[in-house]
Amino acid sequence: MKVLILNGSPRQKGNTAAMCAAFKEGAEAAGHSVEIMNVGRMDIKGCRACEYCHGKGNGECALKDDMQKIYPLLREAEFVVLASPVYYFAPSAQLQAAVQRFYALMRPEKVRRMALLLSSASDGVYSASVCQFKDMLGFMGIGNSGIITAWGEENKSEKKLKEIKEFARTI
Ligand SMILES: Cc1cc2nc3c(=O)[nH]c(=O)nc-3n(C[C@H](O)[C@H](O)[C@H](O)COP(=O)(O)O)c2cc1C
Repeated sequence: MKVLILNGSPRQKGNTAAMCAAFKEGAEAAGHSVEIMNVGRMDIKGCRACEYCHGKGNGECALKDDMQKIYPLLREAEFVVLASPVYYFAPSAQLQAAVQRFYALMRPEKVRRMALLLSSASDGVYSASVCQFKDMLGFMGIGNSGIITAWGEENKSEKKLKEIKEFARTI
């Protein structure tokens, strides 16, 4: 399968990046092709609700920013992983901006399943992110392969990275 990972952290060697790398390793070991896109460091603006994509644009977004690098990958992806640090009890604004720009496609056509990776300092901070993820998948008719969280000392721990690699092998 073609797997696309969107990493919403601006920290390129951070905790979320380690989760993404572990997922990539596990998925590649199972024969999948995996691309990680660091949307946390990209210039991706919020949707302007101009509706160009649903009219004249015919699925193309009017905003010409780094999301244009994501759309072709999103159109081909069969499995998408959303990965983010928790910022104020929610995914990062960078990841949210990228996800809300899915609007141009409404539903990424080939994606059958998705997974969510979340990193945080504290435990018990995931409810908004998890709720949004599940509701969004329901809306798009996409299956939920699973959610893995890492908080505090779990971040970058051998145990957590092994759990992610094993999870990625089973997708
Ligand atoms: C702006 C900001 C907001 C944060 N908000 C939370 C939060 O609400 N709950 C929490 O447990 N950690 C919070 N954190 C900590 C990060 O989620 C945590 O350090 C995470 O592991 C960072 O991942 P990264 O290294 O991939 O960027 C916040 C950090 C920042 C910079």
